[in-house]
Amino acid sequence: MLTDQELVERAFTMLEFSYVPYSHFPVGAALECAGGEIFTGCNVENAAYGSTICAERTAIVKAVSEGHRDDWRRLAVVGNSRDYCWPCGACRQMLYEFGGPGLKLLVARGDHDFVTLTLGDLLPHGFGPSDLE
Ligand code: THU
Repeated sequence: MLTDQELVERAFTMLEFSYVPYSHFPVGAALECAGGEIFTGCNVENAAYGSTICAERTAIVKAVSEGHRDDWRRLAVVGNSRDYCWPCGACRQMLYEFGGPGLKLLVARGDHDFVTLTLGDLLPHGFGPSDLE
């Protein structure tokens, strides 16, 4: 199994693929599943700004569309930023759908330092599938 730092580094390799002509703010993500599968992502912007997709959601849809929706282990999200690259609200919500509050997050900044926390830390009292039962 990769170390936390190694998963963070996998996310950093995605920055070169980020398509960010508008924000110039590349973001990378790496989602690891229980069997060791890793789904990576980067942000992909659009001239119609609202059609942009974040790095985390790119990784999420790659995983779910390949059949990995209930075996998530860790997600790393990274930026070239001075502060840690905190997931946006839409990404927190979409992570919650499949990862739940216990999903482990590794959130890094440009110097490759990272903090470890859970999705429940970032999205307390989240709304999820069980709330519709
Ligand atoms: N971005 C992400 O990829 N993930 C986040 O959680 C925060 C924001 C991207 C979207 C956009 O391309 C750029 O960062 C600036 O908002």
